[in-house]
Amino acid sequence: MLFSMHVVENLGNNEVIVEEGLAKIIIPNPEKYKRPDGVLEPAWFPVFYNPLMKLNRDLTILVVRESFKSGFFIEALGGTGVRGVRLAVEAGLDGIINDVDPLAYRYIRRNIRLNKLEDKVYPYMHEANSLLNNFTFTGIVVDYLDIDPYGSPIPYIDSAVKPLGKKSLLGVTATDTGPLTCSHPAKMLRRYGVRCVDTDFSKELGLRVLIYNLVFRAAGQDVALKPIMSYNYKYYYRVFFASERRARSAFRILDECRGYIWFCSDNYDRKIIREPVLIERNCKHQHVIGPLWICRLGDKEFIDKISRVTDPLYSEATSLARKLIDEIDIDQPYFRYDKLFGYHKKNMPPIDVFIKKLKELGYKATRTHFDPRGVKTNASILEIHKIISSWTS
Ligand SMILES: C[S@@+](CC[C@H](N)C(=O)[O-])C[C@H]1O[C@@H](n2cnc3c(N)ncnc32)[C@H](O)[C@@H]1O
Repeated sequence: MLFSMHVVENLGNNEVIVEEGLAKIIIPNPEKYKRPDGVLEPAWFPVFYNPLMKLNRDLTILVVRESFKSGFFIEALGGTGVRGVRLAVEAGLDGIINDVDPLAYRYIRRNIRLNKLEDKVYPYMHEANSLLNNFTFTGIVVDYLDIDPYGSPIPYIDSAVKPLGKKSLLGVTATDTGPLTCSHPAKMLRRYGVRCVDTDFSKELGLRVLIYNLVFRAAGQDVALKPIMSYNYKYYYRVFFASERRARSAFRILDECRGYIWFCSDNYDRKIIREPVLIERNCKHQHVIGPLWICRLGDKEFIDKISRVTDPLYSEATSLARKLIDEIDIDQPYFRYDKLFGYHKKNMPPIDVFIKKLKELGYKATRTHFDPRGVKTNASILEIHKIISSWTS
């Protein structure tokens, strides 16, 4: 193992073969492309391969497998081609792996050959938008489309929805967590149209803003996107959408799920609202953040099926799915329990003790995958303030 990669062969020419899932992939030898400070950083490799994204790719396989027995995929931003190769090997799909970079294209071709997929998977070297726009005219139905860019998916979403079939799947990664979590408010406004403020649920805020923007742009082309599974992990967001080409569904989903979060930065109070109005509560510094996605972040039944996969190859993915199920029913953004106890200048009990107390009082309550210090609950923040102010440890 190297940098949590399973190296199976050193090719001796600054390249190694790694095993990921059921595929074998030629990648640049990470040892040869270390940063000057000795750190292994995938962005320094001549062609991008990030072992930390294995979870993202594992889930892609499970989501696609749960949805289709066969079909056609496009991986628009392919890197070494690992994701597309795995889609063919592990999910049985045919498809296209594309990358604009000639060196990436060479790796994609070689990895297709290495896995004996020449009759199933075709390498392309196009700018992604140009490929997707042109592909619309082929008449080939795309069942699964993957957008996995450096940074934001916004530059690709308008062309990504074009080749999707009547009912398809779209997988989107966003690594621009800085803007999305409001660490760069100007970028958030420029890219996602949201004037944000610092909140204690910034990671959930980012996911809700991202989903809304993708849904909104697709709706403009009469495509309804519905998130069936979404999450945040380390420095990225991932959303899987079920797509439907139908103007009425696109209208409905936007009408129902476009909204705002009212937030009071004095006492962390928050409320999901449909229209951007200030709320009559005792709060000096209140904000209305949005527009953003106010519906569920995934489909419980679908995630449940993913969580039941028993193959140990995907154990990290199924364990994440189990965490997501626990919190999927609770729409109110998580709150940071360390901040609320700090607000009351009280010592924190262990988080599970606090969650147990909320449950005993009849509320739904659980930890959240977004933040180890976060609690998801349907108790209002005002109720939580009451509980904490009378807390004796
Ligand atoms: C994050 S990497 C993709 C990683 C890959 N999907 C995986 O799972 O390992 C992004 C890739 O997009 C390619 N790329 C960047 N801009 C592009 C564009 N406009 N059109 C096509 N490919 C592009 C880069 O060369 C890079 O290989």
